Amino acid sequence: MKTILITGGAGFIGSHVVRRFVNKYPEYKIVNLDALTYAGNLENLKDVDTLPNYEFVKGDINDAAFISALFAKYQFDGVLHLAAESHVDRSILDPMSFIMTNIVGTVNLLNGARESWKNNFEGKRFYHISTDEVYGSLGETGLFLETTSYDPQSPYSASKASSDHLVRAYHNTYKLPIVITNCSNNYGPNQFPEKLIPLAIHNISHNKPIPIYGKGENIRDWLYVEDHAAAIDLAFHKGKDGETYNIGGNNELTNIGLIRQLCKTMDKKLGREEGSSEKLITYVKDRAGHDLRYAIDSSKIQRELGWKPSLQFEEGIEKTVVWYLDNTEWLENVVSGAYDKYYEKQYLTR
Ligand code: NAD
Ligand code: DAU
Repeated sequence: MKTILITGGAGFIGSHVVRRFVNKYPEYKIVNLDALTYAGNLENLKDVDTLPNYEFVKGDINDAAFISALFAKYQFDGVLHLAAESHVDRSILDPMSFIMTNIVGTVNLLNGARESWKNNFEGKRFYHISTDEVYGSLGETGLFLETTSYDPQSPYSASKASSDHLVRAYHNTYKLPIVITNCSNNYGPNQFPEKLIPLAIHNISHNKPIPIYGKGENIRDWLYVEDHAAAIDLAFHKGKDGETYNIGGNNELTNIGLIRQLCKTMDKKLGREEGSSEKLITYVKDRAGHDLRYAIDSSKIQRELGWKPSLQFEEGIEKTVVWYLDNTEWLENVVSGAYDKYYEKQYLTR
C-alpha cells in the first residue's frame, strides 16, 4: 500500500482530486493535509471521509517542524501539492499570506520530502500543482507553452512562479523527483464564491449586482474541474520526471461573454424571464494590474500522456449551475461570517 499526501484537499480543486484518488485507488492511503482556511471546507468531502483509505490531518504547511514530523510519521511515497492562497484579489489586499503559504509552505514540503526520502528517491514523486498565471498576460494572439518565459504580474502569480522555480531548483540541485503542471481557470462544484462564476451565481440567485471589472473584455481559458483532476491523475502517474505540462480547456471567453451565457442558464434554471439576470450586470473599478488574456496550449499533455478535456463550456456551466442550485445550503454556509467582511472590502468600499 502506498501512502500519498495531498495538500489543500479540502479546497476546490483539491477536494475533486482527493475524491478521485480515494475512490479510484483503494490500494493507496490518501492523507489530506489542510489548514482549513476560509477556503477549506470538509463538507466538500463528506461522501468519502469515512472510507478506510482516507485520513484527514489539520495542519499548516507554514509550520516547518510540523511538516517534518508529518513526513517522519507517514513515510509518504508521493506528494500532490495543491494547498495555496489562490485568489488574485486577496493577494492584492494582503500579499504576505501568499508569500508565506505559497512560497515558504512549498519549501517546507520540499524539505520534508527530501529529508524523509533521505536522497533515495526511487519510486517517489513530488507533484506541484500550479497555474498559467505564472506566464503573465497574453496580447490578442498566441498561447502559453511550457517554454514560455515566466512574467507574473500579481502577488498571487509571483508567489506561484516563485514556488515553481523552487520546485525545479530542488530537482536540479538535489535530484528530487518532481512534476509540475500549470493549469488555466477551473470552474465547477465546490468553488468558493469569491471567484467569478460562483460569485455571479450567488449574486444572481439573490438579485444582487454582478460586478464586472473594467469593460469585461479580459479573456480566460476555462476548464471543468473534473477534467483538471483527470489530468492531475495522469501527470502524477505517467508524467516524466522533471517535466512541466500545461493544462487548459481550449475554451477562451471574455468575462462579459461568459457572464451573459451564465445569465441565460440561470434564467432558464430559475424559471425567470429571459434577460432578467443580465440586468444585474454592473461594471465596477478594474482589478489592479488586471491580466488581459490567458490561453493555454495543452498539446504536450495531450500528445505525451493522452489527456484531453471531456466537457465543453456549455455543458460544464450547465452542470455547475445545477450543482449550485441543488446545494444552496453549501453556498449559504460558506458565505456566512467572514465572507461579508471580504465582500465589503473588495466591492463596497473602493
Ligand atoms: P482553494 O483556495 O479553493 O483551496 C486551497 C486549499 O488550501 C484550501 O482548502 C485551504 O484551506 C488550503 N490551505 C491554504 N493555506 C494553507 C496552509 N498554509 N496550509 C495548509 N493548507 C492550506 O484553491 P483551488 O482553487 O482549489 O486551487 C488549488 C491549487 O491549484 C492552488 O495551488 C492553485 O494555485 C492551483 N490552481 C488553481 C486554479 C483555479 O482556477 N482555481 C487554476 C490553476 C491552478
Ligand atoms: O488562470 C488560473 C487562475 O484562475 C488560478 O491560478 C487562480 O487561482 C484562480 O483564482 C483564477 O484566477 P482569475 O483571477 O482568472 O479568476 P477570478 O475568478 O478571480 O477572475 C476571473 C476573471 O473575472 C478575471 O478576469 C477577473 C474577473 N472578475 C473577477 C471577479 C471575482 C470580475 O470581472 N469580477 C469579479 O467580481
